[in-house]
Amino acid sequence: MALPPDLTTAEKASLTSGSDTWHTTAVRDAVPAITLSDGPHGIRRQRADAGDALGLTRSEPATCFPPAVALGSSWDPALARRVGAALAKEAAALGVDVVLGPGVNIKRSPLCGRNFEYFSEDPYLTGVMGAALVTGVQSRGVGACVKHFAVNNQETDRMRISADVDERTLREIYLPAFEHIVREARPYAIMCSYNRVNGVYASQHRWLLTTLLRDEWGFDGLVMSDWGAVNDRVAALEAGLDLEMPPTGTDGLIEDAVRSGRLTESVLDLAAGRVAGLAERVAGRERHDGWDVDEHHELAREAARASAVLLKNDGVLPLAPGLRVAVLGELARTPRYQGHGSSHVVPTRLDTALDALGRAVEGLTFAPGYRLDGEADADLAREAVECAAAAEVAVVFLGLPEAAESEGFDRTSIDLPGVQVELLRRVAEVCPRVVVVLSNGGVVSVAGWRHLASAVLEGWLLGQAGGAALADLLLGTHSPSGRLTETIPLRLADVPSHLHFPGSDGHVVYGEGRYVGYRHHDTLGTEVAYPFGHGLTYTRFEYSDLDVRETGPHTWDVAFTVANTGDRHGQEVAQLYVAFEAEHPSRPRHGLRAFAKVGLAPGASERVRLALGPRDLARWSVTRGGWRIDPGPFTVEVGASSRDIRLRAELSTPGDGYVGELSEMSTLGEWLAHPVGGRVLRERLRQAPGLPDLDRTDSPLVGLALGIPLIKFRTFGIGLTADVVADLVAAARSALPGDDR
Ligand code: BGC
Repeated sequence: MALPPDLTTAEKASLTSGSDTWHTTAVRDAVPAITLSDGPHGIRRQRADAGDALGLTRSEPATCFPPAVALGSSWDPALARRVGAALAKEAAALGVDVVLGPGVNIKRSPLCGRNFEYFSEDPYLTGVMGAALVTGVQSRGVGACVKHFAVNNQETDRMRISADVDERTLREIYLPAFEHIVREARPYAIMCSYNRVNGVYASQHRWLLTTLLRDEWGFDGLVMSDWGAVNDRVAALEAGLDLEMPPTGTDGLIEDAVRSGRLTESVLDLAAGRVAGLAERVAGRERHDGWDVDEHHELAREAARASAVLLKNDGVLPLAPGLRVAVLGELARTPRYQGHGSSHVVPTRLDTALDALGRAVEGLTFAPGYRLDGEADADLAREAVECAAAAEVAVVFLGLPEAAESEGFDRTSIDLPGVQVELLRRVAEVCPRVVVVLSNGGVVSVAGWRHLASAVLEGWLLGQAGGAALADLLLGTHSPSGRLTETIPLRLADVPSHLHFPGSDGHVVYGEGRYVGYRHHDTLGTEVAYPFGHGLTYTRFEYSDLDVRETGPHTWDVAFTVANTGDRHGQEVAQLYVAFEAEHPSRPRHGLRAFAKVGLAPGASERVRLALGPRDLARWSVTRGGWRIDPGPFTVEVGASSRDIRLRAELSTPGDGYVGELSEMSTLGEWLAHPVGGRVLRERLRQAPGLPDLDRTDSPLVGLALGIPLIKFRTFGIGLTADVVADLVAAARSALPGDDR
């Protein structure tokens, strides 16, 4: 929307701040107000004028779909799109124009209190799932607001901490999901994070909000603040932040700044115009009086079923009919199905696994076994052990209580509550077969107890229909099909960020760099409890006939066959990684580049086709200030997890031909490796007597010399005077093609 021409500076300033917690400001009848609401796994529509970002005030009932930790584990973007469209329908019915989500921050540490709201430790998977959700929401004309931009990977000191990250790590790990979503799904809005990025508040970060987001990625939507993230409104406007939420009553500061010349009016016009533009965009959204509550509950159940991850199974699952089953654990009766904080939704209904299993299994017995507050209770434990002793299978529900994880603080341990593990030990002593079902938003350690269980089903937080979905999986009406989007380490100390997280004195150093999650573990070969991408089903899959074809410059088609060789229907998540074995330049051993979820009947097979493009081979080059493809070998890996690679193809690329510029401070080695510099230097050195053969790799003298900047040879008496070096630099430069200069 073009900004109405007759708006006063005061009116324009008012557009760049909300009118209350969930609305932008309307200006006369020229620009209507926009209604914003949290999600993102359900709509948290607060009716009271004085809403809050913490979930203190009750909200209208809405379907609680599986939070991102679960939905991400489905590895099913088509499903995420459908969930997004359903969310948008509910948003429309509740009068909401923009849904505040998805959250697409990377899970740098399992301790982050908000990991339940994020998809993965992997940027590609996060980007694909986030884009799918945005596309679904926006398919009904409701806006999505992707958050929290950027590098918001912890809750400790989240409103002040500076995430200190090197450029290559930013480009390769923390920014690609945002970039992918902006380019592919064109979100209406982005929410900046609270934290600082390399010392500058995200809300005032011009490079982040303008240079990168708009100029480089082509974002054409609105940037709003996280709730309360603006510290200096004028600086924020200048950086490219359009809308402060919620209002702080500081519009007068903007007017003063325009009047005094500190703020150019055109900057204000741009921001106010973007708010007006968003208002116009969402004016065209669908209108709904309500939604089919049963239908959305069914979708929530389908999504929950697709999201649980079967970590281990010796064959006890699915539960055979007729078994004497004991269900143990308070979490079977009082489910944890979403996380705490601003995303907390009031569900339309709530399924429990206990009810769902009780309906299906005759004679099922139940004992709560432990208290959710972690206090020991000998009577509860004894009752549960007795119950287990009389059963053929004990299904034990374990997990994190509500108080253990939330927005606003981080965990300090990944252990389950001690009383729960103790109960499991005692149950395993008296019952021959134990199935553990987990409910947790952040990863929990399994290393100390998994040997006690015949099967472990990781249920994450599965939303309001999670209880019924878990029963479907345990009973085998459906086969589990979720896969881990994050590594489950053996020990917290094995997590690469462990030595740095969560920082101190206002800074958190991202010292592990690009080695996040499996990128670290797979590079070093660290033993893990369960690797990224892992998840079992009730059937088996075989991979064969890998065929990789070059289709153009730096593009390949990858085809292979997946066959269901078991005797039940199941879904496989075939994963494609690109691996770089070479040490130099140093990079993680491999990274996920594509995947496909395929459903197959027993005996059926499917030819899967995936594509690789230039960016899939590229790395961020700090010296170039851009992406580059190094020449050399690489491997296409196809498999069922980052550690279960079934097919491989060795390939090689000539690289992108980029040749860097040489200077007098470039080393002898860099000169010799350079296509032009190497030639002119060799010609010059031919005139210098007594030099060793520079191509002798076994000579320590040559090895030593290769690391010395060329100009330093001016005192060596081999003719490389300062003038000669200057001539060589000029010669090397003039011979380069235009693009590389
Ligand atoms: C959270 C955001 C949320 C906002 C509004 C903030 O505290 O970080 O994710 O959208 O509140 O509730």
